[in-house]
Amino acid sequence: MTLGTRVTVVTTLLVASVLAGSGIAALKVRRANLEADLDREAHEIATALRAGIEPLDRSTAEETLVQRARAARQHDELFALEVLSVGDEKRTDDDAWRLLMRAADIQDAPVGRVFDSASGARSYAMAVPLFDAAALELPPRHPGRHPIAIMGMRRDAGYIDAEVAASARRIFPLFLVVVIGVAVGVRIAIQQIVVRALRRLLEGIDAVGTGDLSRVILAERDDEIGTIAGRFNAMTGSLREAREEGERAADARLGLEARLRQSEKLATIGQMAAEIAHELGTPLNVIGGRARAMAKRAEKVASSSLAPDAAEVAREVTKNAVIIGDEVARITKIIRQVLDFSRPRGPTVTRVRLAAVVAEALEFLRETIRRQGIAVDLRTSPAPPEVPGDPDQIQQVCLNLFMNAIHAMPHGGRLQVATERVVRRKGGLDLAPPAEYVVLTIADGGPGIPLTDREKIFEPFFTTKDEGQGTGLGLAVSHGIVKDHDGWIEVDSPATGGAVFRVFLPCAVGASGSEDSGEGSSAERSPAPAPAPAAAAALAQPQSIGKD
Ligand SMILES: Nc1ncnc2c1ncn2[C@@H]1O[C@H](COP(=O)(O)OP(=O)(O)O)[C@@H](O)[C@H]1O
Ligand SMILES: [Mg+2]
Repeated sequence: MTLGTRVTVVTTLLVASVLAGSGIAALKVRRANLEADLDREAHEIATALRAGIEPLDRSTAEETLVQRARAARQHDELFALEVLSVGDEKRTDDDAWRLLMRAADIQDAPVGRVFDSASGARSYAMAVPLFDAAALELPPRHPGRHPIAIMGMRRDAGYIDAEVAASARRIFPLFLVVVIGVAVGVRIAIQQIVVRALRRLLEGIDAVGTGDLSRVILAERDDEIGTIAGRFNAMTGSLREAREEGERAADARLGLEARLRQSEKLATIGQMAAEIAHELGTPLNVIGGRARAMAKRAEKVASSSLAPDAAEVAREVTKNAVIIGDEVARITKIIRQVLDFSRPRGPTVTRVRLAAVVAEALEFLRETIRRQGIAVDLRTSPAPPEVPGDPDQIQQVCLNLFMNAIHAMPHGGRLQVATERVVRRKGGLDLAPPAEYVVLTIADGGPGIPLTDREKIFEPFFTTKDEGQGTGLGLAVSHGIVKDHDGWIEVDSPATGGAVFRVFLPCAVGASGSEDSGEGSSAERSPAPAPAPAAAAALAQPQSIGKD
């Protein structure tokens, strides 16, 4: 039952019972008044009767009374008269009359009341004591004063019932009109004042449930509902502020992270500037030398002008031109890579072939690796699955981890790199089913990481390197990137030495690889997609990248 119906029913029942109670009381009063009127009238008639007959002579009493009773009958008076007793002789056996007679004798005055009869009709009866001259001389209630006769007056009282019933009939329609009016009025009032307001409150609450915090409801009311609405508005206001604050904080954090990543990139570029200059030097020397040689040769041809040499010179010139072309291509490539890496780019999400990105990063650092005498052992499963993500950011993670490994082995060593597919459960999600991840393992032969530092290395600006060598941002940035990709980084420093970093990234849905556990055991499954040129080079010469 709705609130409106409930309140209407309860109020209507209350009003109906109060009205019914007062109606019944009014009818009772009406009946009592009618009976009192009848009693008064009876007394007046009794007084007139006594005045007409008293004093009564004992010898003629009977005759007088019988005549008077007959006269009343003949004149159809309101009260019928009958002789109840004359002298000591009782003329009636009726208990009601006897009762009234005794009472009138004792009271020394007319006594009347309404009687119910067995037939259901009600009648009024009065016993009127009559005295002789001697008795009338005595003061009222004198012990010697006794009536010599008692006259009965009787009248049908059914008209009182009829009057009361008529009154009830007049009241009832009024009662109905009032009760229905109250019910309709209460219903409309509840609807207008309470139900509509509650409905708007509910709409507001539902809106908050669906995340809409923009509503302000019923702010204009100054009753309890207005108070609730005011509190509700204040609550949504606080939620709105908290949400905006959260969004601002998230924006600020994203902006900071982006700037952090960019500054880390720039720091890496700074470190690599020397390498680039060095790398550009050699091809430029070669270009210079060959150009000089070509110039000399051309001079010679010009001075001797011997025809047989002309073909030889042409071959020489062609060869040198090819070499110049190759070296220039190499310079262009290096410059393009540097530019590619340093250019800030918005995030893009594609399916990234991790193995290809790893091979590219290694290719990028090839010269440094070679100079430091580091041997690279690269192991990729034949059909490595793809990961959803930003290839640029994933490459940045690879570069950071490779740079750290290279820094850890200033005097050379072995760098082991592997990508494989595993089924794992993410830490903190103990109840979730295990999912497929691609794990990139980078193990170096450096001094490893002491246990006390292992907590701190992912904090921004934590570095153990000298000024200019490290910024302390590489791992912090890498951790942020990997987290954005729904993955995580594990770090280990085995007793055998060195540091092992494992980067877990979730496999793309419907990823191409289909090994059971990523053990690289699927050589005979579907053929691996063609590796990128750099990756192909790395695969072909796993041990010797650094010595190239
Ligand atoms: N492969 C590693 N071997 C030993 N220590 C490492 C290795 N990788 C990282 N670390 C430690 O973690 C610290 C933080 O690394 P990183 O955040 O990349 O900053 P940076 O390289 O600029 O110092 C390094 O200073 C170093 O102490
Ligand atoms: Mg670093």
